[in-house]
Amino acid sequence: MTYPLGLQLRGLDVLVVGGGPVATRRIGPLLEDGARVTVVAPTVSPEIRDWTGRGELRWQARDFMPSDLDQVWLVLTHTSDPATQDLVSEEAARRKIFCVKGGDPEAGTAWVPSVAESHGVTVGVNANKDPRRAKRIAAWLEAALESGTAPVDPQSERVSVDDAQKPGTVALVGGGPGAVELLTVRGRFLLAMADVVVADRLGPRDVLPRLREDTVIIEVGKKAGHHPVPQSEINEILVREARTGARVVRLKGGDPFVLGRGGEEVEYCASHGIETEVVPGVTSAISVPAAAGIPVTHRGAATGFTVITGHQQLDAAPYGTDHTLVLLMGVTRLAETAERLMMAGRPESTPAAVIERGWTPEQRTTFGTLSDIAARCEARSVAAPAVIVIGDVVRLAPDSP
Ligand SMILES: C[S@@+](CC[C@H](N)C(=O)[O-])C[C@H]1O[C@@H](n2cnc3c(N)ncnc32)[C@H](O)[C@@H]1O
Repeated sequence: MTYPLGLQLRGLDVLVVGGGPVATRRIGPLLEDGARVTVVAPTVSPEIRDWTGRGELRWQARDFMPSDLDQVWLVLTHTSDPATQDLVSEEAARRKIFCVKGGDPEAGTAWVPSVAESHGVTVGVNANKDPRRAKRIAAWLEAALESGTAPVDPQSERVSVDDAQKPGTVALVGGGPGAVELLTVRGRFLLAMADVVVADRLGPRDVLPRLREDTVIIEVGKKAGHHPVPQSEINEILVREARTGARVVRLKGGDPFVLGRGGEEVEYCASHGIETEVVPGVTSAISVPAAAGIPVTHRGAATGFTVITGHQQLDAAPYGTDHTLVLLMGVTRLAETAERLMMAGRPESTPAAVIERGWTPEQRTTFGTLSDIAARCEARSVAAPAVIVIGDVVRLAPDSP
């Protein structure tokens, strides 16, 4: 059994015996907490030398002597010499000073837990004195805290969490192409803490049922048979909800600033005095081709790429087959698009691929060339959402014909 205890070491003398990698790892947090650290070791790591050079600790370049323990509150011993380890821990016990004994926790009187820290929460983990297991658990806990899957509760009135979303603000979160795993950690955290989520049809919708029960979800995406909520109305919803003091998350597919009208939402909020935060997302323009095994650039195949919608200045895009064209929202006009690209100078034989519903179990890729891709898609009833890729990189897909 271990009795968990937090130590306030600011301004207190702490002795570290040893100057190797473990001692070095232990010293950083001690210095951060403001302890007055003395290191006793014949040789030390470059970091300890740097700290010494900057006057952040004292280094005695010699072996341990019992008098080193005079006045110290805590000692940590991390040397490779068992006799020194025993001498330090026995002398510390005689003087009733807590001692962390590296490599032999049973013989020490104190342990340093593995620590998970995020959003103002600190969790110390002791795993029955097995430091590797403790580290693994702490790493898992830190990810859970960071992403908000473990509730860090910044709503609590008694704590202030510096990086939590402020009430009455809007966070535009790029949700990525659809898989919850492709949400950013910051995006997932803000969703976990949100009071109101304004959600699109595309993006990581599976995350919605996993949010707090009292999170209000407002759907604004286009569903079959329904018109989407117009952009002007979405803007008004964001401002209206933020004005109630809610933490509003606008969950968008892909990245908010890639053909996603995120800029307009930011401007509208700003013009109504509402603060915004933008959390970038994994854009479908790059990640959906990647899901089909197509890199948008590749040495020898393409050095650049252009992302446009299916309804735009196609003639102005570079026309070499070694420049990748990525078209979003382009399925319905694919025949017209392909025609215009060929007229603008792209060879008929330019490889093309259309990837539907990327990163979902229904993902499907249709391959062809500029001259036949539209007919092939029609034959397979290809439908939105889909990303169209045009250029030599398409040949790199593992199942490209
Ligand atoms: C309004 S745009 C938004 C793009 C978004 N901001 C981004 O960065 O991915 C919507 C288009 O993105 C593409 N798209 C988004 N998610 C997709 C997915 N999972 N699979 C295929 N295409 C997708 C489709 O071309 C769709 O019509």
